[in-house]
Formats: sequence, C-alpha cells, structure tokens
Amino acid sequence: MSSQNIFILGIESSCDDTAASVIHNGKILSNVIASQKIHEEFGGVVPELASRAHQQNIVPVVNQAIKKANITKEQLSAIAFTRGPGLMGSLLVGTSFAKSLAMGLNIPLIDVNHMQAHILAHFIDEEGFNKPPFPFLAMTISGGHTQIVKVSSYFDMEVLGETIDDAVGEAYDKSGKILGLGYPAGPEIDRLAQLGNPKAYSFTKPKVGGLNFSFSGLKTAILYFIQREVKVNPNFIKENINDICASIQFTIIGILIDKLKLASKQTGINHIAIGGGVSANSGIRHALKTGETKFDWITYVPKFEFTTDNAAMIAIVGYLKYLENDFSKQDVTASARLKI
Ligand code: KG4
Ligand code: ZN
Repeated sequence: MSSQNIFILGIESSCDDTAASVIHNGKILSNVIASQKIHEEFGGVVPELASRAHQQNIVPVVNQAIKKANITKEQLSAIAFTRGPGLMGSLLVGTSFAKSLAMGLNIPLIDVNHMQAHILAHFIDEEGFNKPPFPFLAMTISGGHTQIVKVSSYFDMEVLGETIDDAVGEAYDKSGKILGLGYPAGPEIDRLAQLGNPKAYSFTKPKVGGLNFSFSGLKTAILYFIQREVKVNPNFIKENINDICASIQFTIIGILIDKLKLASKQTGINHIAIGGGVSANSGIRHALKTGETKFDWITYVPKFEFTTDNAAMIAIVGYLKYLENDFSKQDVTASARLKI
C-alpha cells in the first residue's frame, strides 16, 4: 500500500471553515484552515456570509495547502471534496472548485461525506494515536452534529442514534448566549466548569428513547432557571457563573455518556471513538477515561486539529476511496442533507 505514491488534495467547505489539506498515502503533509471570524458578531453562522467568505478564501487556502506540502499541483493524484451534509451555499463553493480543478488537471474527483470523514479522521497516520479496530462505535459531537454510529468497516457505517433537535455544540453555544458569553461558548463554559461545583444546580435530562438525543428542552430549562434566579438576584449569573457552567457541563456529559453506555451494551462493542469540536471538552475526555476502567472501554480521541472541521479528514477519506477506485463523475452535485 505504502509503496504507492498517492497525493490527494482534500477540500472542506461545509459550514464556516474553508479548509484544504494534502495527504501523501496516509500521512498529512499540510492542513490549512481559514476560519470565518465574521460570524462571531452575529452569535452564530450566517449562511450568506459563509458562502461569500468561502469564495474569497478557497483559492489562497488551496494554494497554501499545496505549497506547505511542498509539491506541485501536477503531482496530485486526485481531488477530494465535501459533498455534504452542510450549508448548500457553502458546499457549492467547494464542490464547483474541486470539479474545475480536477477537470483542469485531468485527475479523478472523489466526493466525501462530511460525517463519515469526522469518523475516518481516526485513520490518519499520526504518531501516538492508535486507530480503532472494526467494529467500533463513533460518537460525533459538534455544533452541527450529534450521532452515534456503528462502524463495521471504512464505508460500512450505521447510524444508531442522533439528535432529534439541537446538536450538543448548539446546546453549549445557546446556553452560553443565555449566560452572556461570547460565541462559540463551548470552550468558555468548559473552562469555567472546571472551577465550579457540578452538583450546584440540577437540570433534568431529556427523556428520549433508544440512542437518540434531544437538547432543546435542556436549553429551555436553563433559560427558565436563569430568568427565575435573576429576578431574585440580578447578579445571580455573575456571582455563580462557575457553578452554573459546571452544572450545565455535568448534565450534558451525563447525557452523552448514558447513551454511549447503552450503545455499548446493545452492540457488545467496547471500542469507542469520538470526533467533532466538542471532543475537545475536558468533561467528555475525563468521562471516557473513567469509562476505560469502569466499563472496560478502549477509547480513541483524535489529535485536536483533526476533530473540528478540517480538510485532513476529507483527504484521508479521499485516499481510502482512491485505493478502492471509488471515483465521482463530473456531474456529482452538493447535497445539504447527505446521510451516512
Ligand atoms: O466541529 P466544530 O469546530 O464545527 C462544527 O460545528 O461542525 O465544532 C464547533 C462546536 C461549537 O459548538 C463549540 O462551542 C464546540 O464545538 N466546542 C466545545 C469545546 N470546544 C469547542 N464545546 C464544549 N467544550 C469545548 N471545550
Ligand atoms: Zn463537522
């Protein structure tokens, strides 16, 4: 396998990050990301602004990825791009760019499912990071996704459960908004949570059957709780911010771990991998480690730069598909609601 000399350019533009990466066989040579700061002032991603920013960023980002990899465009074996799911206007920028570049260079085009890519990021060759054996369970947790997937082989994946409303990252970000924190609030809630008492306040966990998730009720419960307390003490948030964040984090992590326990019990699989921006969370990392001793889990957390939206994960899927000669036609279209 490694005797071949395969260079894949991966392009990611599904949400608010314009990213490009070059992979040589299984090893990442470059991983460039232009994050769009513009959305911070709106407290969330604005689709029209995202697609405009992608148009401005895509050429410099791709050029930089190729330059950093120390290769020329002509050495590329194929172009992989995110076909979906994501914001249509954002996906279209990456899709049309990838198509024209592949056509211009006369090399194959490979479409990639963003959710599969979050999972297959675990197969990037990286010192100090083990690759999970099949079958394993993958939990993707970010601002856009919350899923538990049974992964039987690279491209044999089954979604066992997913959110029926908000994603877990959204639960963090919306809670942060209620508390007057900046966007995205996840990292700040995580930081403050570590200074507070997780049992200070309790929020009821949603009752959703099976392996599905729901986070919108929790957001409402937090909103009502804060409104009630602020009526009594206008300084309630300021005076108790650490305890509030710790209690929110305790509840959210509890929900995630309960579902993982159930998934592991139902499938008999104890290899558990996570991905997506929320896997940076100290609470989930700690809970997974505890699961190793408590439930005999073997857990996998990828390198941070491969957990948030990035193009290295698109490039690794491109590489795996290349090895299987699984190429796309030029008439492939972006798909906002693409399923695993
Ligand atoms: O994967 P990502 O960069 O983008 C997508 O949403 O696809 O994830 C971003 C999300 C945001 O909601 C952010 O608040 C959350 O990940 N996040 C965190 C932490 N770091 C990022 N949530 C909790 N704790 C963190 N340490
Ligand atoms: Zn993502």
